[in-house]
Amino acid sequence: MALQAPEGTRDLLPDESRFWSHFKQTAADVFGRYGYLPIETPMFEQTELFVRGIGEATDVVSKEMFQAISGENMKKLLAGESIKSKSRLSLRPEGTAGVVRAVVQHDLVPQGAPPVKLMYAGPMFRAERPQKGRYRQFNQIGVECLGAEDPTTDAEVIIMLMRFFTAIGIPETSMRLLVNSMGCDECRPIYRERVRTYMEEHASELCDECMRRAEINPLRAFDCKNPSCSAVMDAAPKITDYLCDECKEHYAAVKSLLDGAGIEYTQDTRLVRGLDYYTRTVFEVQVIDGLGSQNAIGGGGRYDKLAEEVGGRATSGLGFALGYERCLLALQAAGFELPSAGRCDLFIACVDDSMRAAAFGLLQMARDAGLVCEMDHQGRSLKSQFKLADKLGALRVAILGPDELAAGKLKIRDMATRREALVDLEAAKKLLAHFSGLPFGGKVPKIEDVFPMGDEE
Ligand code: HAM
Repeated sequence: MALQAPEGTRDLLPDESRFWSHFKQTAADVFGRYGYLPIETPMFEQTELFVRGIGEATDVVSKEMFQAISGENMKKLLAGESIKSKSRLSLRPEGTAGVVRAVVQHDLVPQGAPPVKLMYAGPMFRAERPQKGRYRQFNQIGVECLGAEDPTTDAEVIIMLMRFFTAIGIPETSMRLLVNSMGCDECRPIYRERVRTYMEEHASELCDECMRRAEINPLRAFDCKNPSCSAVMDAAPKITDYLCDECKEHYAAVKSLLDGAGIEYTQDTRLVRGLDYYTRTVFEVQVIDGLGSQNAIGGGGRYDKLAEEVGGRATSGLGFALGYERCLLALQAAGFELPSAGRCDLFIACVDDSMRAAAFGLLQMARDAGLVCEMDHQGRSLKSQFKLADKLGALRVAILGPDELAAGKLKIRDMATRREALVDLEAAKKLLAHFSGLPFGGKVPKIEDVFPMGDEE
């Protein structure tokens, strides 16, 4: 049997790959307006970074990390030898820990400096059970803002995320934004203990997994999908009743800024998110229909203690990540179809084989000038060359024939109108040479600039 891609992974075939590029470009445009600059961090990091940053008790770290072990170290492990802690590596399950590690390592926010705003896009890896919208390798676009404590930054990143979703075409009415505050080191431990006591009081109604969670990380029980646990946790004490005055004030300010910006949201006191680094504001965007249980298309929050956790000085931070695959599913649920086929400005057809060398020369000149061009490479008849040009969506076809070539002319057919025109070959070549002298990425000519349909036959 032919080999298949590993379970839980997807190939991004050309149409989708182009769409992913469009996604990243839109993110760069939207987030660029807010001052975000790109950063790329490694796809694997020391396992310790995720353990310290995301939290040992989270599902992401305790169950879902792919370890990355070099051949040499694997041999050592198999032989029962130990390996150095810095050689214990894992594929990144998310981007925040790596970005914060880079910010600390390169001292990107020296004391007193303005906040640093970073964005990234790329694959993340989680060994979850694959299902619709849940993959083992998936693509995220994320932003992280380090060195900003003010509620305006919380509101700003939330607004930015919603702007991105609408820019990409997800209808506003098909999304809901959930917000909550997770409190801080002062108020959350008190709340956590309160939830633990509550869970012990309801032990008989909760599943074993939740009761195990009650020991290490009781807030995780809010995410349990078991209906009985969900009903119990619905009636659990609410974090908002336990926030300290400063957290209360911060949360109120974020909400009032969102109100002022006309952003609709629902306060969800059960929103705790699956990563342990969050403090204060957390948020998640879900699509209302079509994605089943994997309906979160993006989420994030504040993490004012994370820089210290990874060995840096106290630096507040916040950000979000959105899942490309789930956004695509949401778009498709809203009737969107992937734009198909690449662009083709010009197809060069040969009347007979003697024209192939001249056609090949013209093809290179046109490409150097910035046009997207193609010719036949399989010895097709003129008729099937036209069929191929049609299939490629060519705007115009240049037909090279011995008689025209001898007269220094070239026949051009406009594929939309089926009109034909004779153009002067030397003049066209001069124009192509002019455009190819321009720096790459300079002004690209339009097909009608180079091959006008002027003097009709
Ligand atoms: P997260 O909520 O774990 O947050 O992931 C963000 C988004 O990635 C989710 O809303 C979802 O769209 C997508 N996603 C997560 N897991 C999968 C999966 N297995 N398959 C497909 N898509 C998935 C974070 O990763 C945080 N780092 C966000 C953040 C940034 N918080 C602060 N800064």
